[in-house]
Amino acid sequence: MQYGYFDDERREYVVTQPDTPLPWMNYLGTEDHFGMISNTAGGCSFYRDARLRRLTRYRHNGAPFDLGGRYLYLRDETDGDYWSPSWQPTRSLLDAYECRHGLSYTSISSQRGGVHAEVLYFVPPGETLEVWRLRVRNDRDTRADLSVFSLVEFCLWDALDDSTNFQRNYSVGEVEVVDGVIYHKTEYRERRNHFAYFACSEPLAGFDTQRDVFLGPNRGWESPLAVERGRCSDSIAHGWAPIGSHHIRLSLAASETRDVIFILGYSENPTDAKFDPPGSQTINKARVRPVIERWLATEDVERAFGALRGSWDELLSVLHVETPDPDTDRMVNIWNPYQCMATFNLSRSMSFYESGIGRGMGFRDSSQDILGFVGMVPARARQRILDLASTQLPSGGAYHQYQPLTKRGNDAIGSGFNDDPLWLVLAVSAYMKETGDIAVLDEIVPFDNSPGSEAPLFEHLRRCIRYTLDRLGPHGLPLIGRADWNDCLNLNCFSESSGESFQTTENREGGIAESLFIAAQFVLASNELAGVARLRGDGDEAASLEAAACRMVVAVEDHGWDGEWFLRAYDSLGGVVGSHLNAEGQIFAEPQGMSVMAGIGISNGKAAAALVSVRDRLATEHGIMLVQPPFTRYHLELGEITSYPPGYKENGGVFCQVNPWIMIAETILGDGEAAFDYYKRTNPSARAPISDVHRCEPYVYAQMIAGRDAATPGEAKNSWLTGSASWHLTAISQWILGVRPELGGLRIDPVLPPTWPGFTARRRWRGATYEIVVHQEPGVGGRVQRLVVDGTSVEGSLVCPAPEGSTVRIEATLERALPSC
Ligand code: BGC
Ligand code: NOJ
Repeated sequence: MQYGYFDDERREYVVTQPDTPLPWMNYLGTEDHFGMISNTAGGCSFYRDARLRRLTRYRHNGAPFDLGGRYLYLRDETDGDYWSPSWQPTRSLLDAYECRHGLSYTSISSQRGGVHAEVLYFVPPGETLEVWRLRVRNDRDTRADLSVFSLVEFCLWDALDDSTNFQRNYSVGEVEVVDGVIYHKTEYRERRNHFAYFACSEPLAGFDTQRDVFLGPNRGWESPLAVERGRCSDSIAHGWAPIGSHHIRLSLAASETRDVIFILGYSENPTDAKFDPPGSQTINKARVRPVIERWLATEDVERAFGALRGSWDELLSVLHVETPDPDTDRMVNIWNPYQCMATFNLSRSMSFYESGIGRGMGFRDSSQDILGFVGMVPARARQRILDLASTQLPSGGAYHQYQPLTKRGNDAIGSGFNDDPLWLVLAVSAYMKETGDIAVLDEIVPFDNSPGSEAPLFEHLRRCIRYTLDRLGPHGLPLIGRADWNDCLNLNCFSESSGESFQTTENREGGIAESLFIAAQFVLASNELAGVARLRGDGDEAASLEAAACRMVVAVEDHGWDGEWFLRAYDSLGGVVGSHLNAEGQIFAEPQGMSVMAGIGISNGKAAAALVSVRDRLATEHGIMLVQPPFTRYHLELGEITSYPPGYKENGGVFCQVNPWIMIAETILGDGEAAFDYYKRTNPSARAPISDVHRCEPYVYAQMIAGRDAATPGEAKNSWLTGSASWHLTAISQWILGVRPELGGLRIDPVLPPTWPGFTARRRWRGATYEIVVHQEPGVGGRVQRLVVDGTSVEGSLVCPAPEGSTVRIEATLERALPSC
């Protein structure tokens, strides 16, 4: 069953019934101020850091799911009937309901008893506040006397502390209510200089700020006493749970429509100007008052909403394609880049599955997110690269995560995930291919944020490579450390105590486990860095990087081939992992994809054999599973992967992020049919008709879809914040459609399903626009044999960078190459 439809024209997904299989989320905000919002207005709001500057509460793992949000209650004053226009939290029967998730905004509308209400939520560009525009229309033929109650529940800033330290928290909450504006100022008296505010454009009939007064004894959000009796108590929170609720009255003539604006914002004051009058404990509102006044005015709201939509026109103009497949067009042109923006901004911090508390910015995650995002906002990608590099350790290693607010490495998680540094190399080379910005290599960046340790970025990249070479194991393959890309392959941890984190617990001394995944990733990264070194005129360095890559290829060929596929690892006891010799976990997807992407085994048939094994053993209708057969019991020497029940997560789930590696590998071997077939299996839009099985949002990728061995095959989890976003966009746009930035030019190398007659694309790249038309004789397939650039035939498939502002017309014809005689 489907729960909605795509409105491609407006770039919206329209949810047509509120009780989706899971909450279907969207995000507000694109720069510093963010919110997560579900199709029933659940979610929360935060300034930059979902843990340390959380404005509102959200209850992960609650029942029902998805409570805590941006709620409104409407009340009919004539008969006391009340409901929420977003369905939650009252879950009243609605005569009509529609949620439009758009690009950085959500609008939810509904109808009950002849009253139509639509709430538009968004963050105006450049502001640290969110606007809720409520539009109420009286569709009755008589006057409607209504009350509106707003509701947010404030978080006491540090979301971890807020959900654990109740002995303190029940006594610290403080608010002020001045001129109808509710200010949340917990801890403002001491070391915080920030506060939140919640304002409304209409005069108030009342307000509440103490949760239990608003709700009444023993009641929940679905039936607040204040709403039931139609009156707030003007409560001022002292401790317990501060909330913000405005009560306003609206009297609408028949057919009349009225707009009411609410704003929920974040503000800071300089430390020496926190109070007004000085010496008092009252918030100095001199800076925030004009902001509030401005955003309560309807015209500014309309203008900002227009600007927000315009900013997305600009961001999405980097690539536009028209192919024979609507699911491809919709994902490439709208939703996949949009998801990439969310992963870039939020890393893995706040989603329905990420609490915003546990994880900061992942070093590996953020590096990969750049692949998807770099074309849209290159300047921000550049800064992200420098931020990441500043947390790198002098050894070349990396903190696994850093906090966005402080930009410091996170000691609690530490380092030792030996794939981490190599992702930085891949991110920088992707950035350079997009921008041609060679100067970034000379940017001076510290190690571990320590003054005095600064070195050019290129030196950081050298150390990334060195880090692997300094840590080779008995077979000359890279040591895995705590884990590699597969966080759950913990080959040195041997954890026997429950409750220990597999990733951070003490590893066995001198662990010699080796990773074939890192080996392949090293080959890829070294060759990429060699290209970069050559570009800056350093041929010797390039040659030595290539030689290191060659030595690693030899080690992989000698010790990493299992006969029909690439091995996964050697464990700490010297045993093979991912081999036909194992009873469980015989073949893993990651080393097959990464090895072929690195060019290993292409000339001797190993690459092709590995991909056949993937097809035979790992591919399902829902995508490619990570491992087969899955582990049915806990293996001490393998770690967390064997802690999951078969078919879930790393233990044989369809780990979506790895699927594009296999798609890319297929294109490298020239099989467009296989590549695109895999692409369609995980494409969320193509899975929309099976939403009852898939359950997650049909407009964004999920981290995982349960595998064949699971109790619920095909069921997705962990949507939104996942490396699947940037890798799928890379696979479809750069490898299948084949419009691929390289250091020296724009490569046009499509590898299409043979049934396609071709496609068209418009790509903005380094300031010029490339209008690309690709022809293919349907049923035949092939690679680029003829390339015409602005009317002139060009050898090969590389188009040189054109001057900024110019438009280049490219015609590419794909044919089967004639066999050479
Ligand atoms: C999950 C991984 C995740 C890791 C992060 C594990 O439990 O299965 O997907 O990367 O935790 O700590
Ligand atoms: C989730 C992490 O964010 C990603 O970096 C990792 O590679 C996968 N888990 C696989 O374990």
